Amino acid sequence: MWRVVAYTLPRAKVPRSRVCCLQPAQKGRSLLAGTTAPLVHATQSLSMNLGIQKVEALDTGHFVRVEWEDGSESRYPCVWLRDNCQCPQCFLRSAKARRLLIEDLDVNIVVKEVAVADRRKISITWPDEHASEYEAEWLKKRCFSEEARAEMRENLFLPECQHWGSDLQLPKLPFEEVMYNDESTYKWLCTLKRVGIVLLTGAAARQGELVKLGHRIGFLRLTFYGPTWQVQDKADANNVAYTTGKLCFHTDYPVLQHPPGVQFLHCIKQTAAGGESQVVDGFHVSRMLKKQNPQAYQILTSTAVDYTDIGVDFCDFAVQCKQRIIDVDSRGEAVRINYNNATRDTVFDIPAEKVRPFYAALKEFDDLLNSAEHKFTYKLKPGDIVTFDNWRVLHGRQSFPSDSEVTRHLEGAELMGCPLPRAASLTK
Ligand code: OGA
Ligand code: ZN
Ligand code: ZN
Repeated sequence: MWRVVAYTLPRAKVPRSRVCCLQPAQKGRSLLAGTTAPLVHATQSLSMNLGIQKVEALDTGHFVRVEWEDGSESRYPCVWLRDNCQCPQCFLRSAKARRLLIEDLDVNIVVKEVAVADRRKISITWPDEHASEYEAEWLKKRCFSEEARAEMRENLFLPECQHWGSDLQLPKLPFEEVMYNDESTYKWLCTLKRVGIVLLTGAAARQGELVKLGHRIGFLRLTFYGPTWQVQDKADANNVAYTTGKLCFHTDYPVLQHPPGVQFLHCIKQTAAGGESQVVDGFHVSRMLKKQNPQAYQILTSTAVDYTDIGVDFCDFAVQCKQRIIDVDSRGEAVRINYNNATRDTVFDIPAEKVRPFYAALKEFDDLLNSAEHKFTYKLKPGDIVTFDNWRVLHGRQSFPSDSEVTRHLEGAELMGCPLPRAASLTK
């Protein structure tokens, strides 16, 4: 799921002509379905309009070297060039997808001839006489240099992540604006990607708003708790959230192999006493743990923890899963937190002598999550919808008094897939 936005956004302006309010007839239309198209052109400033000075084959034809008009150069491996031939036989333009099969690719291919055409493109003839053409702009965007790849990553994945603690300035946007103004929707999603949490305000205090919000950018994800679920004190609760008890910091659904990326919680009714919400930046705290106790970090990033959830709700369910509390990437940086103490199974499939060190590590992580400098506390009001990155932000709530009446009611839902936007597309 889903970070550069403070830096990218100013560059990734939505072109004026496309910054429009959806007409009432378009209400509910998914942004994913089409209106993200303007963003395709967002960062094309990066490398464009550079002509080609010279092109030559290097390394006995295994590489092609392009010299640009400004004197810089790019080197392209021939196997990659052949693999990415843009001719109709090799590439299906209408699907923007490769037709060429890997079984038909010669990984040792060399060029037979290479030439520049009009400074705007290069043409290659391959040993079997197949001909390929590559435009300058297309090639420049795909340069293999360290810097060009860093720029490409930034444009495609918005990797900027603003870490926060108790000093969080909770980003807020009016629900109505996000629903009907494309620019606000884009701002919402970019902020969600960068900060991990955005509060939408002013929705109606009744069920159904999350379905509308979900359709605005994609689809809600159906789970065994239903397309949306009602968080309120229930008799014989099938989830600890459906009580008046305190919920300690958790991510939702670590019992699913691929937990939802974005969660919505809509406040319909709020109790007068208690019920405050708390959030903490799991990526920030993971970094703190790594610094403070590398061994504890190592344990939490490597131990497979069993999760379970069994019951009846939208349907009967009995789900079982193994997750590491902190999932990391190849650099050892947290990319997903999978932590819900309520559904952590009693079964623990690790050698007995590793159990206590695991608990000690978990406790240290939990203490950091709960430290006053890391957690942020706020109270939802009826009509507020908190939207957050469930792979990064852990959430919890304070207990509240039980009553014969329902005094607090949130509607929850999860989004299908990861809607977090790309600032630009490399397609063309
Ligand atoms: C949940 C949950 C928060 C709240 O239902 O998973 O985290 O404030 N609820 O009740
Ligand atoms: Zn081809
Ligand atoms: Zn939750």
